[in-house]
Amino acid sequence: MRAIEIRNKYLNFFKNHGHTIIPSAPLIPENDPSVLFTTAGMQPLVPYLLGEKHPEGTRLTDYQKCVRTNDIEEVGDNRHLTYFEMLGNWSLGDYFKEESISMSFEFLTKELGIPSEKLSVTCFAGDEDCPKDTVSAEIWKKVGIPEERIYFYGKDDNWWIAGEEGPCGPDTEMFYDTGKPACSKDCQPSCNCGKYVEIWNNVFMEYFKDRSGYSKLERKNVDTGLGLERMTMLLQGKETPYDTELFQPVMKYLKKLQQQDYIESRRIVAEHLRSSMMIISDGGRPSNLDRGYVLRRLIRRMIRHLNKLEINLDELSTLIDINVENLKEMYPDLEKNQEIIKNVILEEKDKFVKTLAHGEREFEKEIKRMKEIGRNELTGEVVFKLYDTYGFPPEVTKELAREHDYKVNMKEFDQLFKEHQEKSRLGSEQKFKGGLAEQTQETIAYHTATHLLNAALKKVIGKDAHQRGSNITVERMRFDFNCDHKLTEEEKKQVEDLVNQWIQEGLEVTKQEMKKEEAIKSGAECMFIEKYPDIVTVYSIGNVSKELCGGPHVKNTKELGRFKIKKEESSSSGIRRIKAVLIKEN
Ligand code: ALA
Repeated sequence: MRAIEIRNKYLNFFKNHGHTIIPSAPLIPENDPSVLFTTAGMQPLVPYLLGEKHPEGTRLTDYQKCVRTNDIEEVGDNRHLTYFEMLGNWSLGDYFKEESISMSFEFLTKELGIPSEKLSVTCFAGDEDCPKDTVSAEIWKKVGIPEERIYFYGKDDNWWIAGEEGPCGPDTEMFYDTGKPACSKDCQPSCNCGKYVEIWNNVFMEYFKDRSGYSKLERKNVDTGLGLERMTMLLQGKETPYDTELFQPVMKYLKKLQQQDYIESRRIVAEHLRSSMMIISDGGRPSNLDRGYVLRRLIRRMIRHLNKLEINLDELSTLIDINVENLKEMYPDLEKNQEIIKNVILEEKDKFVKTLAHGEREFEKEIKRMKEIGRNELTGEVVFKLYDTYGFPPEVTKELAREHDYKVNMKEFDQLFKEHQEKSRLGSEQKFKGGLAEQTQETIAYHTATHLLNAALKKVIGKDAHQRGSNITVERMRFDFNCDHKLTEEEKKQVEDLVNQWIQEGLEVTKQEMKKEEAIKSGAECMFIEKYPDIVTVYSIGNVSKELCGGPHVKNTKELGRFKIKKEESSSSGIRRIKAVLIKEN
């Protein structure tokens, strides 16, 4: 069965069981500054898991694009992926353990045809926060899993939470027995030997965790996640996801081109290519900050491995085409954004190629120096210099060092990196403060106009048009946003008219302080460059705009004057820039 067939079977199965199919949220989370990428299907649903009513009802299902980057360095082995697709189904205060487990079992055995004997399951063992989940175990027995294939584990294995705080609860996990021999007589699902592969996780979310501990949620929810790549691999009897149709076209092409034969490098290229294409397609761009930096690392690591395979970097363009062709049925956006994806990757490649030669020479020099003084470890300072001056992602240095049998002091590097980040954070706060000190009527008015423009663009271009930057002087405002085309005259006029209409309506600007979660729940807009504190300020303009923002703002939009767009131009690939002024009318 192909991946897309598994996806469709899943969605249809849950649809037939009363679920509404909802679309995948973008990889770049909307209104959640606390995470870099969407890492699980439940993430866009957090407000609803916390009690808000979902417009589509209490039973939902979807496929969710996910990126997890904590183990980028593990990619290349036979199981770690940075991008993957999670199939999920949710009960928002609707069904609970009995129905959830029965449906999972039915789907696995009837729809996918997995023999029940191949399944083992795990349940929560219980602790001071939450009792042992004997209820789930009993249900498993009832559907046909014998006691000896039901295991109990503690919080490390059978408890699920996204990060440190939020909705959470005990889970029950399903494992597929690959039929490989047991590694020992104690071999069981929690073991990493590869005999058992986790295929599905059903979380029974009835708790909320914050710094003070656990409390019960008002409603009991179910959140499940099934990894599509892994399921595809297992059903096709393949050893790795790279052996499935999801990666094969690119893998084969790489094999044809390579001058050096490194399977790990081929996998890294194939994986990072898909991952970065998906991120770019959802609006991500390489930079030195947060998610931009993750994307930069992915692209640069891919290029390093293309070099290792001795494949001409001009082939990147064809590799992108091959991937679009292969994946467009699953992700039609890839085809829509093909040109942008290409531009971004090729631009980043050019940048990296320039620094690479230089940096590698510098690296060789350092290695020589270390040899002379009889050390086999590069200092954190060297790693940092290569990063800061030559644009070498630290893990590239680490890999290069490993190839030379050298170690790197990553702890020292991490420390220096933290100090550097702190400095640039202070720098930008300073800038902000400086800006505030210079606050004038004009800059305050432009600030409010920025919020109106942001809201108007969402109405005219689409709700995926997000702010990417802004700059205000006493004379004008500048606003960057993502958009894949030059605005037409018609669109520009619509935006201008909308802003002016809101100005004329004399909308009140109000300020509220609230908990970050509440702000996010209420749908407030924000840019994600920096993480927000727990209590945030939210500015609302009538009911047309709501944004997390430090202010200050005018009290009423009628103070703004007339809004006029002076220029609309490209800022970088996929990002447009508007320059506009406010004209005082006497
Ligand atoms: N949210 C759960 C997971 O990611 C289903 O495993």
